[in-house]
Amino acid sequence: MSSPAWLETETARRYHNFAQQTTMYQELSHLMVQLAEIEPGMQVLDLGCGTGVTTQAVLETLGESGQVFAVDVSEPMLAVARGQINSAQVTFIQADAATIPHLAAQSVDRIVCNSVFWQFRHKPEVMAEIRRVLRPEGRFVFNAPEPYFIFEAIPRSKKVSVLFEQLAAERYGVGRQDLRSIAVFLQNCGFEIIGKQMLERTRSAAESYLFMQIPVATAWMEPPLEYETRLVLLEEAQQLAEGNQATKQRWMYFVARSISL
Ligand SMILES: C[S@@+](CC[C@H](N)C(=O)[O-])C[C@H]1O[C@@H](n2cnc3c(N)ncnc32)[C@H](O)[C@@H]1O
Repeated sequence: MSSPAWLETETARRYHNFAQQTTMYQELSHLMVQLAEIEPGMQVLDLGCGTGVTTQAVLETLGESGQVFAVDVSEPMLAVARGQINSAQVTFIQADAATIPHLAAQSVDRIVCNSVFWQFRHKPEVMAEIRRVLRPEGRFVFNAPEPYFIFEAIPRSKKVSVLFEQLAAERYGVGRQDLRSIAVFLQNCGFEIIGKQMLERTRSAAESYLFMQIPVATAWMEPPLEYETRLVLLEEAQQLAEGNQATKQRWMYFVARSISL
């Protein structure tokens, strides 16, 4: 799983609002589809499809042949997606990324996973499912943003505390990944990286404000604060902040294919 906040109706409503008022998910989807090298007629799995922004981008690339299996664990997110996309080429499936019995072994040519992968808490199980459903010559494309991803290859440390975290990242995909540990993790799961690309974009203050209104965006706090309390704090921050403060966002994209174990 990932954050239970994804299952909330309010998350789906606010996420959809964000996705309609900003171009962020469209920009991210555009590069993902490009890197996936999707061809007409292909069978494509959109893993963690959300409200369907990436699904739509895949559909446009597929033309009039081919199929998209749009999978998400959250029924409220899928409900929005179904309302947005009405195509016989898209099958929406409510399932966890680690268990998609609706898909046969080696049944898809491409798997795209936009803005989700680092959130999975059970990455080895998800990777096993990806390996099961992907055709041998298929591609798996995913991305991760800073600070969840470190844009460096950090060598194995000699310090026990650091090495502990590195082993957790290599074996279980837990915590922050860097360019080396993600390659080791994927290899342990039977995949090799065949392509990488960085995407840099500017996030305006208005986009940050809108994004932080999505319940899941601030649900990580420990100990947790009630959503209403978070919204009150956000309003205060919005009033106090300087309106023109933009931030740089960097995303790393990976293209992987399966290898024999
Ligand atoms: C940030 S959204 C991305 C949605 C979509 N890919 C897009 O670009 O707009 C993450 C999505 O992943 C879904 N998700 C999270 N954990 C999941 C899991 N374990 N299995 C399937 N979907 C999951 C969430 O419900 C949410 O819709």
